[in-house]
Amino acid sequence: MPPLPPRAALPLIAAQLLIATAAVADDERGAALFDNHCTGCHHPALLERRLRHVRDVDSLRYFVDRWAREIDIDWARGERADVVDYLNRRYYRFTLKP
Ligand code: HEC
Repeated sequence: MPPLPPRAALPLIAAQLLIATAAVADDERGAALFDNHCTGCHHPALLERRLRHVRDVDSLRYFVDRWAREIDIDWARGERADVVDYLNRRYYRFTLKP
């Protein structure tokens, strides 16, 4: 009979995975929200060219707000902030005010 796998280590590994996931969760949530709701029009290839009117974080926030309202999705404030963060990190790279 072969020895059993070290199951005692599993909860520890799971806990570490959870911690690692939490660190990237916000960015992933922003990406997922944007992918789900916005890429119908903002196809990634178009995005690079089209997203050019935004001049600073405030106008980015304004556009994300406006578009969320426009297509009638009910994002919580945190979710909207995640989308703003995601778009900023990925495309605009403004320095974020706290
Ligand atoms: C029906 C198509 C459509 C959908 C859906 C859509 N957008 Fe847009 N978006 C546009 C168009 C067209 C513009 C060009 C400028 C404007 O808003 O008038 C734009 C502009 C923007 C801009 C400003 C880009 C820049 O730098 O000029 C942002 C940011 C943006 N959209 C975010 C979003 C987000 C976030 C969502 C999802 C909630 C979304 N959009 C969904 C069509 C769309």
